[in-house]
Amino acid sequence: MDNQANSSGASSFTSAMNLDQQGVSFIPQRYVLPPSQRPNIIHHHDEHVLPLPIIDLSNFHDQSRRYQIINEIRNACKEFGFFQVINHGIDESAINEALKAAEEFFNLPHDEKMCLFSDDVHKPVRYGTSLNHARDEVFCWRDFIKHYSHPLPDWIHLWPSNPPSYRKNMGNYAEAVQGLQNKLMEMIFESLGLNPSYLEEEVNGGSQLLAVNCYPACPEPELTLGIHPHSDYGSITVLLQTRSGLEFKNKNNNWEAVPLVEGGLVVQLGDQMEVLSNGVYKSVIHRATVNVDKKRFSIVSLHSFAMDKKIGPAKELVDDNHHQLPKCYNEFSFREFLQFISNNDITKERFLDTLKIMK
Ligand code: OGA
Ligand code: NI
Repeated sequence: MDNQANSSGASSFTSAMNLDQQGVSFIPQRYVLPPSQRPNIIHHHDEHVLPLPIIDLSNFHDQSRRYQIINEIRNACKEFGFFQVINHGIDESAINEALKAAEEFFNLPHDEKMCLFSDDVHKPVRYGTSLNHARDEVFCWRDFIKHYSHPLPDWIHLWPSNPPSYRKNMGNYAEAVQGLQNKLMEMIFESLGLNPSYLEEEVNGGSQLLAVNCYPACPEPELTLGIHPHSDYGSITVLLQTRSGLEFKNKNNNWEAVPLVEGGLVVQLGDQMEVLSNGVYKSVIHRATVNVDKKRFSIVSLHSFAMDKKIGPAKELVDDNHHQLPKCYNEFSFREFLQFISNNDITKERFLDTLKIMK
């Protein structure tokens, strides 16, 4: 694979890190959102039936404990579309080393990062800024490096070779999260009343895309976002954040912060899970805010079924006897999603909406 800066977009490229390093005291107009889309400074404190869910995964092999965990997962998925997990089995040191590799990568000189720059969403490894720098009308205050990660030996040689510890440290973390997602998928399937080994091969052999995000300090955080509202395309996403900033849209259509849980990981449902569950679970719409004083990092592990695997509603969850809903979604593959985002502005139209079957 070539390591050349790719495509015409490179000449007009400014990273959020560059702006931060220049010490700008205003954000450029290109980053300013229309007033209705700006983050609220006053957060809603909506009353829910349930508190924001934090699920303790310790002893999940224990049968009665597992039953409880699956109930908590079901409630969280129905009410919020996400939950946080603690005692998830991933070592603190693996997490810290991955975060250190991320920080060192973004601290590299601009030109070195630009060797991995691409606007092409099909590239297996790419450095970029905003959501889709080639299409975004309003930029968001984020730089990222994204790379496929599973199975690791297929991809790791394409990852950044600098900082020298990047491949090893990010690789360890990626493998640990892939193991965790296998467990989580079993439990989520079980919570839907499916066999825990449902689509086992496709889950184990699916795709894992790591999005390593850097949100530099921003002089005017009330005018812009770190990432625009979206839902993730895949089955589940496992997200690690170094400070709060992640927000989700609740059932009343209000934005709420996902609090930082020390040592915790956020598990979000993606579009494939909404489709597979025939809408019993919904993918969570989320965004990230930025802040004035400190960089924020996140490592986002986006899991999905294999690139060309078509995912439709599980036949066990589609009904003709009126106990369950009729089929509500058309099937889609990850490749079809990529095609959609390279041709459309996802801040204007959701991919998932194109799959809904209107009755
Ligand atoms: C993403 C994402 C949010 C965050 O990368 O898909 O939603 O907090 N990131 O970084
Ligand atoms: Ni996301």
